[in-house]
Amino acid sequence: MSQVAEAAEPPQAPTANGLIGEAPPSPAGPIEPSEAHGLPEPPTIQLPALLQTLRFNQRQIEFVFRARRELGEVFQMRGTIPGGPVITSHPDHVRSLFTAKPEQAPSLTGESPLRPIVGPNSVLTAIGPRHMRQRKLLLPPFHGEAIEQYTQMIADAAEREIDGWPLDRPFALAPRMQAITLDVIMAGIFGIEGKPERGTPEHWLRVATKRLVAASTWPLAQVSELINLNREEAVGLTRVGLELLDRPTYAVIEQRRRAEDLEERRDILSLLLQARTEEGEEMSDKELRDELLTLVLAGHETTANSLAWTWERLVRTPAAHEALRDAVRGAGDPAEQIEATIVEGMRSRPVIPIIGRRVKVPWRLGPYAVPADTAVTMSILLVHHREDLYPEPFEFRPERWLGRKPGTYEWIPFGGGIRRCLGAALAMAEQRVVLETMARRLDLEADDPAPEHAVHRNVTMIPSRGARVVIRSRRDRAE
Ligand code: HEM
Repeated sequence: MSQVAEAAEPPQAPTANGLIGEAPPSPAGPIEPSEAHGLPEPPTIQLPALLQTLRFNQRQIEFVFRARRELGEVFQMRGTIPGGPVITSHPDHVRSLFTAKPEQAPSLTGESPLRPIVGPNSVLTAIGPRHMRQRKLLLPPFHGEAIEQYTQMIADAAEREIDGWPLDRPFALAPRMQAITLDVIMAGIFGIEGKPERGTPEHWLRVATKRLVAASTWPLAQVSELINLNREEAVGLTRVGLELLDRPTYAVIEQRRRAEDLEERRDILSLLLQARTEEGEEMSDKELRDELLTLVLAGHETTANSLAWTWERLVRTPAAHEALRDAVRGAGDPAEQIEATIVEGMRSRPVIPIIGRRVKVPWRLGPYAVPADTAVTMSILLVHHREDLYPEPFEFRPERWLGRKPGTYEWIPFGGGIRRCLGAALAMAEQRVVLETMARRLDLEADDPAPEHAVHRNVTMIPSRGARVVIRSRRDRAE
């Protein structure tokens, strides 16, 4: 049994026939203060605030499943952030937050631990008109069609990586996935394919990014993260690390600004250098640095761990693994099986397990109401494990998705509304190509039949041993 299953209530009979069901309606959204007075606030977890914070940060899965079991689908905790958070897991509540006017429910990423790193003005951390402006500038290169041009490059990066993996010796997939996704994002952003030439600013940028991401798991880095919480600018160790990254980033920007072929270039940096707002303004170097760093940081570790989790599940679920291998090695079109496997992987192990908004007016959440200025978070993990939506939610069953598209408010690993993940199309393209290439070429096994636990790093939830596998056989590229 997996860690998620252990933490949950004893299995119940599925409430719907089939593999996907519906949740009963639950009214939600902004309400008048007078209406809010008549409704109770959601029940609160009865533990000291510090203990709640610690448990939430270290064992979020057990924590939220237990709270849901004891208090229901909406509850509040104390201690982690001011004014909440309230945690909900009903799709109607999710809908009310995703479709709210931006000024009524701004994103909590403005208060995220990433803020001192990527700055308060990046598309991830800005709120209000500033956010919309940055989002408009960044959207075109992330559209589905624009992403298609990356497919071959992703496939090449995956094939190259796979060639170098050991046979019959356990190794962790997550860092290998990260090498692929870092190559892809660097190529997308800077237009550098493969490994950049040694000594160039692009080379140093790649090296610094890898080191910083690796260092973020050190205990010292976690302390530094706490020190930086709610700050505008990074201090201490984080500051030192960022300077290592900033130097090559500014050098790349400077070089590209002067490039003679700027107008012909299709990489994201070149597009951003040419982009103008409706008022005709161009982006400053600082703004560019903040956005580029946001894209590198938001873009590669998430995708890598999402793939790692899917494999962590696949090598422990023979039926799903077999179905995928048959599909990609057979004569038919494997696209649907691949998609279903990725969607189920992201349902059962969402890399970002919780997201939130700060409601600026009283808000109804089913039988409860919360006052203005409450942080209302959506537990992606709990939504994805509702028995009514996903019968036998702890089973990894890609077949749930055959002939069926995920619901906008029921499957939310990329969040939603005007804050929906900007890189979702790229992340899906990367997962499709890498999953297919691996399933076609490799026969993989788990190194240990016990499921991997989830550990929390910054805002992400990753497999505790990096999704360790053993390759039993490898086919050539051409086969
Ligand atoms: C499997 C991989 C990924 C997952 C699970 C993921 C998940 C998320 C989530 C949950 C959010 C917050 C949405 C909300 O609050 O409603 C988000 C936002 C964002 N993501 Fe991703 N992401 C992934 C890959 C990427 C990639 C590849 C990029 C870029 C190259 C990226 C860039 C961003 C940006 C810029 C935002 C902020 C959007 C905004 O606030 O307008 N992400 N992502």
